[in-house]
Amino acid sequence: MAASHATALVALLPPCLLALLLLRFATVLDPDPDAAVPRVKAAAPLPLRFRHDGAFKILQVADMHFGNGAATRCRDVSPDGGGARCSDLNTTWFLRRVIEAERPDLIAFTGDNIFGGSATDAAESLLRAISPAIEYKVPWAAILGNHDQESTMTREELMMFMSLMDYSVSQVNPPGFLVHGFGNYHIGIHGPFGSELVNTSLLNLYFLDSGDREVVNGVKTYGWIKESQLVWLRATSLELQKTVLAPALAFFHIPIPEVRGLWYSGFKGQYQEGVACSSVNSGVLNTLVSMGDVKAVLLGHDHLNDFCGNLDGIWFCYGGGFGYHAYGRPHWPRRARVIYSELKKGQRSWMEVESIQTWKLLDDEKLSKIDEQVLWRRSTDDSDHKILSRPGA
Ligand SMILES: *[C@@H]1O[C@H](CO)[C@@H](O)[C@H](O)[C@H]1NC(C)=O
Ligand SMILES: *[C@@H]1O[C@H](CO)[C@@H](O)[C@H](O)[C@H]1NC(C)=O
Repeated sequence: MAASHATALVALLPPCLLALLLLRFATVLDPDPDAAVPRVKAAAPLPLRFRHDGAFKILQVADMHFGNGAATRCRDVSPDGGGARCSDLNTTWFLRRVIEAERPDLIAFTGDNIFGGSATDAAESLLRAISPAIEYKVPWAAILGNHDQESTMTREELMMFMSLMDYSVSQVNPPGFLVHGFGNYHIGIHGPFGSELVNTSLLNLYFLDSGDREVVNGVKTYGWIKESQLVWLRATSLELQKTVLAPALAFFHIPIPEVRGLWYSGFKGQYQEGVACSSVNSGVLNTLVSMGDVKAVLLGHDHLNDFCGNLDGIWFCYGGGFGYHAYGRPHWPRRARVIYSELKKGQRSWMEVESIQTWKLLDDEKLSKIDEQVLWRRSTDDSDHKILSRPGA
């Protein structure tokens, strides 16, 4: 009786009044904000896996340079770029737009995610910068650039905080190793559910902290990857390759000195500014070459460079500047990079990675897709001998 009366009453209410009533109920049902209700992190499904169609797509977002949001102005946009209406929110809209268009399986934020000098509260700024990834429930991994720590949090605190954020797969540092910096970790991408390689990492991602600034013999320079990090990297790669010779990708913010030489040896994309690397060469390229598994390195830092060039068989690719509060160039759209890996189709199920491709997306009217290229393709003669042993098999 009471229930049907209530239903009849509700039916008579104008919709807006009903909405207000529901809102009121929601407030009543909301837990006491002062009560200690533990909020558990919304975790990404781990391990990450290739999709059922045998693909895995990574979106690289380089140099968002996020500040305080709507109040933080754009830099280097053309006069028709919105003027005073152009802010950090344009960076957010661009991120939503590329997520909608590409539906990535992972987003890699490769440093200078926030621009410390313009961020009043580092945590607040980071939450806003990353929010589209969380909104779309896309797993994401982040590393630090040279500007992230210039606000209210140290590099360690930033990595710790990012490791605890929703859908983050970021880690502070690898357990069991004493490594320099914060944000050195490995993420393995496993075979799809239902495949024979469901328990095997078929694509390895290495994230490294390339530091911020250093002084060498009294001269200021950028940071570099230290020997302790390379020790971990070599050991991890060696361990992984005991079971499967899976290709790998490395992500770090500051380019290595050899990237400069690509000006002479060739590149695809735009090389519009000097490579702002460290004066110290710590042998990263030698290490990567000796490891053998890394096929491409994804870089940030130099916003006007978005090229890929090959050094000793390894591609070095810039993401290209993404953020509107970062320096850029008017009439040269902000951009993002996609790294797309596909598995080989076996007779009964998906096999190992067959190819890795890349392209970029511009924040122009059409969200133009440019500079498509193949970064790696498994040579046919060795494709059947790559699986050395299967864990659990
Ligand atoms: C920023 O966003 C505003 C509002 O949508 C738009 O009018 C403006 O053109 C955008 N600026 C750029 C550079 O994309
Ligand atoms: C994968 O691991 C799970 C859990 O350890 C196991 O039950 C399953 O049989 C394994 N599958 C394959 C194909 O190795």
